[in-house]
Amino acid sequence: MLNRDSNHHYDCNGIKLKDLAEQYGTPLYVYSADQIRNNISLLKEALEENFESYRIQYAVKANTNPHILNIVKETGIGADCSSPLELRLAKQVGFPMDRSTYTGNYESPEDLTRALESGINLNLDDYHRIDDLLKIGVPEFVSFRINPGIGRGGFEQIVTGGADAKFGFPYEKTREAYKKAKEAGVKRFGIHMMTGSNILEPFYFAEITQKLFTIIENSINDLGIELEFINIGGGLGVPYTPEEATLNLKQAFKMVSEVFKQQIPRLNIGNPEIALEPGRFLMANAGVLLSSITHVKHSYRNYIGIDGGMSTLLRPAMYKAYHEVNIDGEDQTQKTDSKYLICGQICENSDIHPMERSFHNPKAGNLIIVENAGAYGFTMSSNYNNRPRPAELLIDGKEHKIIRIRETEEHVLKNVPDFELA
Ligand code: LLP
Repeated sequence: MLNRDSNHHYDCNGIKLKDLAEQYGTPLYVYSADQIRNNISLLKEALEENFESYRIQYAVKANTNPHILNIVKETGIGADCSSPLELRLAKQVGFPMDRSTYTGNYESPEDLTRALESGINLNLDDYHRIDDLLKIGVPEFVSFRINPGIGRGGFEQIVTGGADAKFGFPYEKTREAYKKAKEAGVKRFGIHMMTGSNILEPFYFAEITQKLFTIIENSINDLGIELEFINIGGGLGVPYTPEEATLNLKQAFKMVSEVFKQQIPRLNIGNPEIALEPGRFLMANAGVLLSSITHVKHSYRNYIGIDGGMSTLLRPAMYKAYHEVNIDGEDQTQKTDSKYLICGQICENSDIHPMERSFHNPKAGNLIIVENAGAYGFTMSSNYNNRPRPAELLIDGKEHKIIRIRETEEHVLKNVPDFELA
């Protein structure tokens, strides 16, 4: 989404990030609508090359701003929702509920009721939840989130399959789940797994798909169930570090489609579509975080303090996640030995970006650009240390608009009864 001019100033579609920071202040999330559309097209293209039909369901949790949801909806894909409000938003924006999924975990009875009443495809995280669901009503459609016993992810915290994951249920229970649902009168079915996030190895997607087909064959092939979809989850990775390579989507889906073509004719499960629920792949590189240097400190090590720390972008503190960080107007091609750690203003020693970075002459007031911040950026922000949350801005073609106003100190305290900020 970014260009850099000969003076090393960044812009998006000709709109200078420096001007946006001056006009709207920092920290500020900036998104590119064109980049989101482009990411969706890339994914569609890779799927169309290998499958007759498919379902893409955007994992709303990656970026829940309704204006962003609108752009995604316009491309015709569905939504993957994980909470009642995500579902409410997806429905209001107009995502097709029959091509969307609700995958919660440890849902309350109210959550389940709302999901059931919305008409969305319900995906259950535990086989026992079918009993709870049947107390509310017999759904026409049900899908189950299977833990296939393996997982993979960019960090250990985002591995969501295998023995140490709280998600899904052991695949040995698959038969019991579908049998019970069928006997209770459920008519339509899907199957789902989501085994990890930020995966850059193309072979992995075929590996887990094969594993799921083996589970299907051993558990439900003789139950007379037709699956409408086989959802292999999200997890499509993006390169965050300069060393990482882009995930080869066409290669990944070619391998997955070979598994589909080999297995489906052998099995008695109808003609299920492949379903995917990417979040990161659609959003990460479509967003940057603009932040300002507040202070440069020379202590035992050198620190660049910025106003967009862990309450604004949690990923570096939570996972030691790497994000490219550049200073607007600085020539990155010139080498320097001066190294700095980039940290936020929050009172936690983990409020820091991993690895020392080289900068020439960082100064208070310089504009910092944190890349790949479009997914799991704003959505994971907080008011820790009583810091108001940042603003969000969308660039669409040559136009731009604020899509979330900056929180004020009054906003932060608005839910405290019998108190007014003086
Ligand atoms: N489907 C389900 C059921 C999920 O739980 C997730 C993400 C996705 C789809 C989308 O996965 P993606 O395509 O984005 O990999 N906060 C972490 C990522 C946590 C992912 C949680 N689940 C991060 O900042 O890296």
